[in-house]
Amino acid sequence: MVSHINKVAVIGLGTMGAGIVEVFAKAGHEVYAVDGSTELAERGKGFVTKSLDRAVAKGKLAEADRDATLARITFTAELADLADADLVVEAVPERMEIKHLIFTALDDIVRPDAVLASNTSSLLLTEIAAGTAHPERVVGMHFFNPAPVLALVEVIETVLADPQVVTAVRELALNLGKRPVVVGDRAGFVANALLIPYLARAIALYQTGKVSREDLDNAARVGIGLPMGPLTLSDLVGLDVVREVCEVMYDATKRPSDASPALLKQLVLAGRLGRKTGRGFYDYA
Ligand code: CAA
Repeated sequence: MVSHINKVAVIGLGTMGAGIVEVFAKAGHEVYAVDGSTELAERGKGFVTKSLDRAVAKGKLAEADRDATLARITFTAELADLADADLVVEAVPERMEIKHLIFTALDDIVRPDAVLASNTSSLLLTEIAAGTAHPERVVGMHFFNPAPVLALVEVIETVLADPQVVTAVRELALNLGKRPVVVGDRAGFVANALLIPYLARAIALYQTGKVSREDLDNAARVGIGLPMGPLTLSDLVGLDVVREVCEVMYDATKRPSDASPALLKQLVLAGRLGRKTGRGFYDYA
């Protein structure tokens, strides 16, 4: 087991993956940022660069630090490049067959003592781990959106995991300036088990037509003191992700309150996934 994690790889450069790359690179790690094609890797580079440029424009990051951060990142479409990674964080779409393909490929590429982590927010981590040659080195490392801002990292421990790996990943998260919590492998882990039924409830309430989206969001923001209303937050998280976690929660609990509201399903079917597609409950054009 690696006691010192320096070289990190992040696979999947969507909203979460790009944010996670930024977190590691800013903290001084060398990072391989991987996506499925050169075009997707370039798109990921664009996300990270834009975020760092915004920090420079706001005076929060010196230009030299932005350049040094970018210089620590290698954008690539080749999994084979990851042979010397100490830790791999997978952040690809939530489909078990894709995760299995990646984790089994990694078995043949990375060192036996490298740690494999998944940023999954809805799939059973034990199933991901059990499909690998060394399930004891597989953990969850679940970041929250926006990853560069939110401090919580859920470190997910399966029954197959080596406790030393869990401890190493928890310590790594602390060194990144994050606030890790260690949690067993259960539907929604902890944060989503609290959050997703609330978001589903809010969407169901909006679906009744008795309240406008703005008033509903303001009730949560102004009345309960949350940083954003539930419809705005659903748009930020991605309506597809909210729906996926809803379905996993419902499968596990069979509680009607955890079921995905009809409106959520329709918006996902319509391709209105929130900020990432420019339209969800609100327009972002
Ligand atoms: N990347 C980097 N930095 C960002 C950012 C992003 N995507 N979005 C906002 N920020 C930064 C801003 O630059 C700003 O920094 P400074 O204060 O240093 O200038 C800071 O965050 C605050 O941003 P804003 O002033 O623009 O707006 P805000 O005060 O409303 O904060 C927010 C924005 C941080 C997103 C805040 O509204 C918030 O915390 N919202 C709740 C988000 C949340 O609950 N996320 C969890 C979702 S669940 C999840 O992700 C798990 C899952 O599996 C589904």
